[in-house]
Parts: sequence; C-alpha cells; structure tokens
Amino acid sequence: MRKPFVAGNWKMNLDLEASCAVAGELKSRLGSATDVTVALCPPFVYLKAVGDVLAGSNIALGAQNVYTEAEGAFTGEVSGPMLLDVGCQYVIIGHSERRHVIGETDELINAKVLKVLEFGLKPIVCVGEKLQQRQAGRTERVVSAQLKNALEGVGKDQMASITVAYEPVWAIGTGQNATPEQAEDVHVLIRSLVSDLYDQRVGEDLIIQYGGSVKPENAAELLRMENVDGALVGGASLKAESFVPIIETARSLGRS
Ligand code: PGA
Repeated sequence: MRKPFVAGNWKMNLDLEASCAVAGELKSRLGSATDVTVALCPPFVYLKAVGDVLAGSNIALGAQNVYTEAEGAFTGEVSGPMLLDVGCQYVIIGHSERRHVIGETDELINAKVLKVLEFGLKPIVCVGEKLQQRQAGRTERVVSAQLKNALEGVGKDQMASITVAYEPVWAIGTGQNATPEQAEDVHVLIRSLVSDLYDQRVGEDLIIQYGGSVKPENAAELLRMENVDGALVGGASLKAESFVPIIETARSLGRS
C-alpha cells in the first residue's frame, strides 16, 4: 500500500534561525513517525543547517530545484551530487513557479528528472493546469502532456523513486484549494496514465501528492480521497503549528 507522503515546500521564505526552529519543532513532534513520509524543502542556502537539525530523525531533506549537470561552469546553479552531499533525498522538479515564473520547459524538466535519478535523488515531479486551461476544459490534456514529457525515458524500475505532485496553478498560494473531487479526478487520471505508460503495478504504487492551499482545515477532506496519497504544502509548512496537523491528518488517514 502507499504510505502517505507530506512535503513542505518553503519556497523563498524563512531565514536561517526560523528554518532551524521549524525543523527542530517538527523533529521533536514527528521525528520518529514511521507511518508517514515527511520531507522539508528549504531554500538551497539553508539545506545543510536544516539537515543538521533533522539528523537522527525520520524527517527527510529535499531541495526545491536542481540543475541538469553534475558540475562545471553553470553560474548560480546547484547539482544533484551537491544536494546529495548535504543530505538531500528528494528534489522538487517542475514546480509551477519554476515553469511559469522562471520559464522552465517540459524538456528541461525531463532532463532534470533523468539526471537526478541517475544520481539517486528522488524527484517530486509537479504538474498542474492554469485557471484558463481548466476553464477551457483542457485540464486533462495539459496535465497528461506535462506528465508524459516529464517521464520521457524514465525506466519502469526507476518509477519507485518518483513522486508526482498535482498542483493546479490557480490553487497555489491563493487560499482556494481544489475541491476533493477535482483533485481526485486528476489523481485518477495521473495514475491511469502511469499505468498505461508502465503497468498497473507501477500505477498503483505511485505516490501522488495534492498541492495548492492545503491547510489544517482542508487536509482531511483532500487526504481522504482514495487517490490522494499526501500533500505538497507551501504556506502552511512555514509554521509547525499549521504543518504538524496536516501531517497528523495524513497519518490518521494513511492506508499503509
Ligand atoms: P501553497 O503552495 O500550499 O502555499 O498553496 C503549494 C506549493 O506551491 O507547493
């Protein structure tokens, strides 16, 4: 069965002291939990410090981005081996802010996925439609294309390392989450697409997170859906008092 997976995407928020404080509180409240996977994804510059705080706990470290090359003349970029070096297990790839604010393409996202798999990092691959695309009835087409393109060349045996996060762009940071039914519909689509691309086992085992304005008040209704296996949480992950209840909800509804 699929173990619930909740990741906190801090984006470009918190400072060193606050990052360590939130990590420390999560460690003391959830550090020994084994019935849920938890990861914190701080900005690059705080990865090492947060990792040091989390050491000895079951809470994993993740990055918010990565570059496609291992090393070299790529000013301002950070490589997979560097992320591993500071203790990362996960890396978010293709977040909507990177797609739509920074301009990352499906091709670049795919190259990142393939490269980090080689290095042994676990990608959290983000997909999601914009509001106009949903209103035009194109959600299915957009999400399917993003996912197929991101997974191009990923082998069946590598799929166990992949998490997919469905994050409708209109729900991110807006306070307006997708309804549980809207989330479930797209999660079913993602799972069946992965089953078609690989096989049913791979589809059934795939962890699919929902992201977009997840908070303690709506976590249960979303996580209760059969195909919603966890959450990628932005704003509500910046404070233990809002992040911990979301993780506890995932644990209590867990199907593992
Ligand atoms: P949010 O962000 O929870 O603040 O909406 C989610 C995300 O972008 O991963």
